[in-house]
Amino acid sequence: MKKHSSEDMKTPGQFAVLTLLIGTCFAQTQTMCNHNVCMETANLEIENNKVTIGVALPTVESGLNEFLMNASVPLPYGFLSIQMGPNEVQMCDFSITEPLPLPTPAPPNHHHNHFKMNTSDLRSQACTESDGSLLTNPMLANTTISSKSALLGDHLQIVSRINSTLFGVQDLFSTSSESSVIRVTISKSAPLYLDSSKMTALLDLSNSSSQSFNFNHSAGTFENYTAMVDELGV
Ligand SMILES: *[C@@H]1O[C@H](CO)[C@@H](O)[C@H](O)[C@H]1NC(C)=O
Ligand SMILES: *[C@@H]1O[C@H](CO)[C@@H](O)[C@H](O)[C@H]1NC(C)=O
Ligand SMILES: *[C@@H]1O[C@H](CO)[C@@H](O)[C@H](O)[C@H]1NC(C)=O
Ligand SMILES: *[C@@H]1O[C@H](CO)[C@@H](O)[C@H](O)[C@H]1NC(C)=O
Ligand SMILES: *[C@@H]1O[C@H](CO)[C@@H](O)[C@H](O)[C@H]1NC(C)=O
Ligand SMILES: *[C@@H]1O[C@H](CO)[C@@H](O)[C@H](O)[C@H]1NC(C)=O
Ligand SMILES: *[C@@H]1O[C@H](CO)[C@@H](O)[C@H](O)[C@H]1NC(C)=O
Repeated sequence: MKKHSSEDMKTPGQFAVLTLLIGTCFAQTQTMCNHNVCMETANLEIENNKVTIGVALPTVESGLNEFLMNASVPLPYGFLSIQMGPNEVQMCDFSITEPLPLPTPAPPNHHHNHFKMNTSDLRSQACTESDGSLLTNPMLANTTISSKSALLGDHLQIVSRINSTLFGVQDLFSTSSESSVIRVTISKSAPLYLDSSKMTALLDLSNSSSQSFNFNHSAGTFENYTAMVDELGV
C-alpha cells in the first residue's frame, strides 16, 4: 500500500519536472521581421517579465565575426545579459539613464508611445562573470547601437551590431553543432559604474533571474545579413 501511494506521488512530480525542463530549455524561437530586418527571436517570460531576444548571424562563408541583436526588456530594469553556450564571455545590455517617455500624449490612432532612444545612453557590451557579478569589458567587442533602438510602451528595445575577434572561436558561430543554448538573465538592480563614461560597469547577479532557449543556427543565419546591417544603419 505504502509503496503504491509513493509511486502515485512520484508520477505527477516527474511530469511537473519534465514540463519545467521543456518550458525552461526549449522555448520556441521564430523568425520575426520588422522593416526588412529579420532575426531569429525568442519570446521569453522570466518571472513575469516579457523579454524578447532576436539574433541574426551572417553566413559562415562571409567570414564576418559578428551578429545583430535586439533585446526587448520591460521597464524598469537594471540590465540584461545573454550567454551563448558554455562561453565565459557574455553580452550585457543596459541603459545608463532611466528612459522616460516624453510628456507628450500619443496621437489617438497610436496604441503605444514609440520613442527613439538617444543611443549614447545605451550600452551593449561583452562582459565576463565572476563572484556573482558581471563586469563589462568594452575592449572585448566592438558594438554599434542602432538608431532603431526604441522605447515602445513600457519596453526598451536595444538593437546592436556586435563584432569581435573572439567570436571566431565562440560556440555561437560553431558549425559543428546545429544549435546553441542561449541563457538570458535579467535584473532590476542598477549597474555600478566604474568609469566616468559609464562604459565599464559591475552588474550584480544576486537578484537576477534567468531562462534559456535553443538558438537554431541555420534558422538564425541570413544570406542578406549585410543588407540588414545597412537597414539598421550600424
Ligand atoms: C532579408 O531577407 C528576408 C528574408 O529572409 C526578407 O524578409 C528581408 O526583407 C530582407 N531584408 C533586406 C534588408 O534585404
Ligand atoms: C526589436 O524587437 C521588438 C520586440 O520583438 C520589435 O517590436 C522591434 O520591431 C524590433 N526592432 C528591430 C529593429 O528589429
Ligand atoms: C544624447 O546624449 C548625449 C550624451 O549625453 C548628448 O551629448 C546629446 O546631446 C544627446 N542627443 C540628443 C539628441 O539629445
Ligand atoms: C567592428 O566594429 C568596429 C566598430 O564598430 C568597426 O570599425 C570595424 O570595421 C568592425 N570590424 C569588422 C570586421 O566588421
Ligand atoms: C574592434 O575593431 C577594430 C577595428 O576593426 C579591430 O582592430 C579590433 O580587433 C576589434 N576588437 C575586437 C575585440 O574584436
Ligand atoms: C536583493 O534582494 C534583497 C531582498 O529583496 C534586497 O534586500 C537586496 O538589497 C537586493 N540586492 C540588490 C543588489 O538589489
Ligand atoms: C532549424 O532551422 C532550420 C531552417 O529553418 C529547420 O529546417 C530545422 O528543422 C530547424 N531545426 C530544429 C531543431 O528546429
